[in-house]
Amino acid sequence: MAELSLPFESRYFPLKKFLNMYQRSMEEPEEFWAEQARQLDWFKTWDSVLEWEPPFARWFVGGRLNASHICVDRHAKTWRRSKVAIYWEGEPGDIRVLSYSTLYREVNRYASVLKNCGVGDGDKVALYLPMIPELPIFMLACARIGAIHTVIFSGFSAQALADRVNDVQAKLLVTADGGFRRGKIIPLKSIADEALTKCPSVEKVIVVKRTDSPVTVKTPKESWLHDLLESAAQFVEPEPVESNHPLYILYTSGTTGKPKGVVHSTGGYLVQNYSAYKWVFDLREESVYWCTADVGWVTGHSSIVYAPLAHGAAMVLYEGAPDYPTIERWWDIIEKYGVSVFYTSPTAIRMFMGYGEEMLNKHDLSSLELLGSVGEPINPEAWLWFYQHVGGERCPIVDTWWQTETGGIMISPSPGIECVPLKPGSATLPLPGVEADVVGEDGKTVPPERRGFLVIKKPWPGMLLGIHGAPERYKEAYWSRFPGVYYTGDYAVRDKDGYFWVLGRADEVLKVAGHRIGTAELEDAAVSHPQVAEAAVVGKEDPVKGESIVIFARLKKGVDPSPELKKDLAGHMRRMVGPIAVPDEVHFVAELPKTRSGKIMRRVLKAVANNTSIGDLTTLEDKSSVDEIVKAYQEFREVKGKEE
Ligand code: PRX
Repeated sequence: MAELSLPFESRYFPLKKFLNMYQRSMEEPEEFWAEQARQLDWFKTWDSVLEWEPPFARWFVGGRLNASHICVDRHAKTWRRSKVAIYWEGEPGDIRVLSYSTLYREVNRYASVLKNCGVGDGDKVALYLPMIPELPIFMLACARIGAIHTVIFSGFSAQALADRVNDVQAKLLVTADGGFRRGKIIPLKSIADEALTKCPSVEKVIVVKRTDSPVTVKTPKESWLHDLLESAAQFVEPEPVESNHPLYILYTSGTTGKPKGVVHSTGGYLVQNYSAYKWVFDLREESVYWCTADVGWVTGHSSIVYAPLAHGAAMVLYEGAPDYPTIERWWDIIEKYGVSVFYTSPTAIRMFMGYGEEMLNKHDLSSLELLGSVGEPINPEAWLWFYQHVGGERCPIVDTWWQTETGGIMISPSPGIECVPLKPGSATLPLPGVEADVVGEDGKTVPPERRGFLVIKKPWPGMLLGIHGAPERYKEAYWSRFPGVYYTGDYAVRDKDGYFWVLGRADEVLKVAGHRIGTAELEDAAVSHPQVAEAAVVGKEDPVKGESIVIFARLKKGVDPSPELKKDLAGHMRRMVGPIAVPDEVHFVAELPKTRSGKIMRRVLKAVANNTSIGDLTTLEDKSSVDEIVKAYQEFREVKGKEE
């Protein structure tokens, strides 16, 4: 854990400022957060800052505001009306630049379309769209009328889409005729058609024309967006919603097979993000901010849409694959739009590292001021490569730790206040207002340099309101392991300087290329294959993706464990969940290792796949099953080694 001495102090205030602010946020949290909240526009001020009935927190209770007013109207009424809000680039190279006044006009018209389709305050709208400007516009249009959006990642399959739409009971679905990815068209409308056969709650479908590919739009239930826009009003009054009115519901994976609909508020969520992006990214109206995540994940919600726009910054939105048509693509985008803040994932950094620095040398990246990393632990080698080659040894790197549930960044350097000395691989210190700790099984703080569970000890404004339709699951998942304390599901270590090093998940959740996916969800998908009797899914360390998916499956009696069946199972996973669920390895086994009470011992399989010590096997029902798997896996490793 080597400390890097970086020359940032001269650009920022002395460290005292951060520590004073942090201390104040701990001593007077409500006053502290009220001060932050006052920086946003409220139609009505709150009656109380926090109502904390553990584990439910309600922030800025009684306050009224509107997210689209904060992200759009506020700017469209000032000089910022003529400044860029969105630089959009499609994968084929088409470009659209939207000023704040254009964004204002579009958000209003889309809000009118939604209203004309019968959507009102509290209704749920599912957005299954590619990375095109229509996606943030629809999100803001929903917020404008008090509707709750649920964005479903456009890489999800029909089944995954249907599951989410049904859980949230969406009244309306917005999709597109397709989206471009690696030169191909993803047929979103056909996927949605398949899903919609199982989604009775959906009364209306809006289709955006993006690719011009032939699709059927079945009137009167379905309409093209451009047709609906013809009769749209130019102005729709923003609905002043109560601070705890849900802004959105976003599905994420947990330890069961069913994804969780994480519900976020309007007021607390916006206050958290407005503050965090100022502190962490030094975000200002003149920033050109590019977060490479997909809007379908929480990073996209906070870092592409709500925080940059709340600050009146320009955000970059890119539709396609990072290395398409060549590995120059991202660097070309940074140069073309003069990106000043660049926020990406360790997986992407490691992938580009593998290509070498030459591609960077061909581009002028001097507009960059700050770099960020999110979604998974970043290894020091990748951090240093990012720092030296992308940031030209000028730009601080903010390694930001957070989750779908936290709504905003929780642990990170905060150069916008004052940059702590950075350590490659550490997210450094909690932001003001965040009381984080590392505890042992007994819930007590562990000594420095010892691994424990990362927990948060105080409510924070961006904290999830709950899980949609499942209050008990909310309590169980986050508040039962250590009563009164939020359990993150991550392992972490704190070093002697108090810096946090997040090590990865402590539960049955994988992080594959930064995508969060539960092993139970993958196992449910695997056993729905007609020839699979039982399956166990484990994560295997991967030098680029962080983790890869390995399936151990027992087939039904008499089924031939052929290589074709392995491919077929991989295809089945893609159909059931989407490309992110495609396994890197499939192993057919005679028996899965189980405890005497019949529980699959994933720990053993994980050790086999990762070539680590298998540990204690005393609770195992049948040791020969493990011996057989170990032997088969060794053979597999030898064959693979020879192939490479
Ligand atoms: O394991 C942690 C990892 O990502 C998880 C949250 O995933 P998700 O809800 O998809 O949100 C991702 C982006 C906000 C965490 O529990 N994680 C996120 N950021 C980091 C991280 N692990 C290490 N370092 C990080 N900076």
